[in-house]
Amino acid sequence: MTRWPLRQVAFVGFGLIGSSLARVMREQQLVERITAASRSSQTLALARQLGLIDIGYADPADAVRGADLVILAMPVNATESILRAIKPALSAQAVITDVGSTKGNVVAAAEAVWGEVPPTFVPGHPIAGSEQSGVLAGRANLFAGHKVILTPLPTTQAEALALVTSLWQRAQADVLTMSVERHDSVLARTSHLPHLLAFSLVDTLARESNNLDIFRYAAGGFRDFTRIAGSDPTMWHDIFLANRDAVLEALDGFESGTRLLRQAITTGDSEALLGIFTRARVAREHFTHMLAGTAYAKPMTAEKDLTYTVQPGGRMNGRIRVPGDKSISHRSIMLGSIAEGITEVTGFLEGEDALATLQAFRDMGVVIEGPERGRVRVHGVGLHGLKPAPGPLYVGNSGTSMRLLSGILSAQPFDTVMTGDASLTKRPMERIAKPLRLMGADIQTTGERGTPPVSVHGASTAAKGGLKGIHYDMPVASAQVKSGVLLAGLWADGETSVTEPAPTRDHTERMLKGFGYEVKVQGATASLRGGGKLTATKIDVPSDISSAAFFLVAASIAPNSDLTLEHVGINPTRVGVINILKAMGGNLEVFNEREIGGEPVADIRVRSAQLKGINIPEDQVPLAIDEFPALFIAAACAEGTTVLTGAEELRVKESDRIQVMADGLAILGISAEPTPDGIVIQGGQLGSGEVVSHGDHRIAMSFAMAGLRANGPIVIRDCANVATSFPDFLGLAKRCGLAISASE
Ligand code: S3P
Repeated sequence: MTRWPLRQVAFVGFGLIGSSLARVMREQQLVERITAASRSSQTLALARQLGLIDIGYADPADAVRGADLVILAMPVNATESILRAIKPALSAQAVITDVGSTKGNVVAAAEAVWGEVPPTFVPGHPIAGSEQSGVLAGRANLFAGHKVILTPLPTTQAEALALVTSLWQRAQADVLTMSVERHDSVLARTSHLPHLLAFSLVDTLARESNNLDIFRYAAGGFRDFTRIAGSDPTMWHDIFLANRDAVLEALDGFESGTRLLRQAITTGDSEALLGIFTRARVAREHFTHMLAGTAYAKPMTAEKDLTYTVQPGGRMNGRIRVPGDKSISHRSIMLGSIAEGITEVTGFLEGEDALATLQAFRDMGVVIEGPERGRVRVHGVGLHGLKPAPGPLYVGNSGTSMRLLSGILSAQPFDTVMTGDASLTKRPMERIAKPLRLMGADIQTTGERGTPPVSVHGASTAAKGGLKGIHYDMPVASAQVKSGVLLAGLWADGETSVTEPAPTRDHTERMLKGFGYEVKVQGATASLRGGGKLTATKIDVPSDISSAAFFLVAASIAPNSDLTLEHVGINPTRVGVINILKAMGGNLEVFNEREIGGEPVADIRVRSAQLKGINIPEDQVPLAIDEFPALFIAAACAEGTTVLTGAEELRVKESDRIQVMADGLAILGISAEPTPDGIVIQGGQLGSGEVVSHGDHRIAMSFAMAGLRANGPIVIRDCANVATSFPDFLGLAKRCGLAISASE
């Protein structure tokens, strides 16, 4: 346990970092006496005037005498001579730390002086500089929210490490530890190299004869890029020499990067240029994760916590367009990537699920521009152009990505591992692995329940001659399984056909045709022959009827509502929600029907209606498979009993939607009895309460709409995953009249 205050802290060097830390200590009274040594008597005089130190010395040995903690805050290359000078004056228990930007040389200096690094020495590095320097530039909040890296050695004393950690935590820094070598190599890339480039760019331009003009016209980009060229020259001189090997290695990497760019510019290789720029742009967004050394496709929704609060009442009015269809957005990237030519997509859903698919194909070498307000340009690589990803493909919450990709990856001549978030990791993947194995795929799921991660050994399948076409009778009605098998069939020898037990969404079949690939559909069977090619096309993604569903229910249950949803996809395999609401007495008008890019689209006007409970026809279940959470809210507001059967699939969606909805409805005072394959809901008065979405986007949005008919506020926990399918749900719901707010 570290006991503050200490009796004496000594600084050697008292510039920006040292004086900022002294300010923290003074403000929080962490120390009785602060001493400092500096080569500049002016610095010491200023420090005394500012009340930051008690006594200043020219000789560092004088400053450290009697100190409990010694902080080396001078340029790194002076470390060895300073350590030699202070060694005789240090008390035996004194803890020593430093703030240098390189750590290997600091450790080497200590070894040179003592033979081995003293156990009380804790090398450290606050990543919180500024291009300003000096005692006057210091401020107590310099480190707040910034990282401080400590690089203790195996021999470092635990108490010494605890003291230094506690000090930085007092400065509100985020303290982490890593090895000396890792620190130097990471910092060479993320800090030292950018400084080197900034210095070099400014110097190069300054030496050009027309430099005045250049600087006069220098725009924001130049200023942003070169801000750090205003940093302390001596300090950076020392850093580059001290971290020589790691910096040179980083510079080599950079030079090979610029060589690639040079070559692409010389030869006019747009594909290569766009590839580099689009990858860099995404990578930058995930910069923190790159610093941590992980692939830049990283858990997107991990560790986020979001709570919705809905105030009771309100009505739904206006004309809105909900975001693009999730299923079609996924497929536009997949088919665009394996097509020949550039596919232009508009209306693309910029939700995390579809973005996970987009990132997966970027990871496999496909150049994808955008998304920019729903516009995406996919530079197809053809059926044989995908490349192995640099690491596992992380697909977040998205079952569609994982199951459809299983089919595509099974046919590639390389191995891939797919992982996902906590919810996806519980979902069944054997249903797609099984038929793919029948085609000759080498694919493994995990654990007894056959869940993610999924490992696809494409290389071994290729070595055995690739996939063979099969006929598959699907045991469950699943568009994802049907699509995964058909997609694998693109590469398989001969014909691949799938028969479904009930009609499921047919976007894959429709879109393949749009890409010029022949698909035969006869009754419940879809088939295609491998070995053809896809030709790039234009895709206009309609609004997602699954996202529209929340609003269809909302305007039906909220009195005095009149809401029009524009450009909604009304593919016959998706319209269960309209049919069921109409059967319950809903007032829905589907008009302005048209066909866009092979998919039927319409506008839908919904007005309030007194709904009544029904027995939901089982043939509607696959046609409304994603809309039941919303329909359960409609049932809760209906007169009488609603009975759902034949819907056991709901138990293996992003959550067990039967149980989770039943639990939530019960909390809100509605009688909802789960059955193995459905639910029985008695309509009634929705009450107030706190429900949990279990990370399921559709559960969260459904309970949000329940607020319209509740008699008190509804709090919904765990709503971050709404972003997987419906970015700006909150904004749109508010605009229509829902009194909803979010908090973290
Ligand atoms: C989807 C198919 C359905 C659906 C999912 C999207 C698709 O899943 O629930 O949200 O895009 O193919 P199943 O195939 O598991 O029924």
